[in-house]
Amino acid sequence: MKISETIKSVRELVNTARKAGKKIGFVPTMGALHIGHISLIEEAVKQCDFVAVSIFVNPTQFSVGEDFQKYPRPLQADLEICKKAGVDVVFAPSIKEMYPNENLTWVNVEKITEPLCGKSRHGHFRGVATVCTKLFNIVVPDFAYFGQKDAQQAAVIKQMISDLNMPVEIVVCPTVREKDGLAVSSRNQYLSRQHKKDATLIYKSLQKCQQMILAGEEDVSVIIDGIGQILSQSPAIEIEYISVVDAQTLQNLTKISGKVLVAIAVKIGSTRLIDNILVDTNE
Ligand code: PAF
Repeated sequence: MKISETIKSVRELVNTARKAGKKIGFVPTMGALHIGHISLIEEAVKQCDFVAVSIFVNPTQFSVGEDFQKYPRPLQADLEICKKAGVDVVFAPSIKEMYPNENLTWVNVEKITEPLCGKSRHGHFRGVATVCTKLFNIVVPDFAYFGQKDAQQAAVIKQMISDLNMPVEIVVCPTVREKDGLAVSSRNQYLSRQHKKDATLIYKSLQKCQQMILAGEEDVSVIIDGIGQILSQSPAIEIEYISVVDAQTLQNLTKISGKVLVAIAVKIGSTRLIDNILVDTNE
């Protein structure tokens, strides 16, 4: 496995693979790799002939007061994981390599960046869309892999790819969960043992909501109340949003119909957690 810190060297490695007729898979990450990332890498390794993983804690997607400084950066452990998973090249650039000068060009996806996490994380999706554009321009992958856990991020990237005619196919892989249902996230390591236990209520509430929808409940306010009741079992959980939206447009629904995304964001202590489920009422 090669490790590349410069745009020039990663481009050369990927170009050589492409010239040899290899299909290029790309998994963009901010490091602190866990089984969720490994599942994306494994999917890429399965579908492609050459796999690049980027490890870059992107400063432009963190708002003031967010955890950019304390975001975990266990590079050596991440490299081991990548090597074991069969990655061909890890691109781990410095901030200076990615943003050498003041950045004046931004990719701003409208509308679907406004609800859900967009309400509280101002500028977050602009940072994500911009860095993904830069990374796609550097790696030029055939396929790029994202997790369903960050459902809004995946929707924003898909919209951007379509609007800007980017020649990459987005593959969204299922959320990986711990045995107790908690969605795997790099931020789970900030949780105390008690808070980790409290956090299991998030998936329990989503499962309950799925049962309600599949049993025929159509009133979104009843569903949101049901989720709220379960989350309120822990006084440590501070709800940021519970939303039931159209899975594609991410616009709020009042009545369940078609493919819906039920998404939750909470704070437990100082840790912000998100999770979601997709329910297709047409199935
Ligand atoms: O999901 C992430 O880890 C990041 O938002 C991404 C896609 C790597 C962009 O920095």
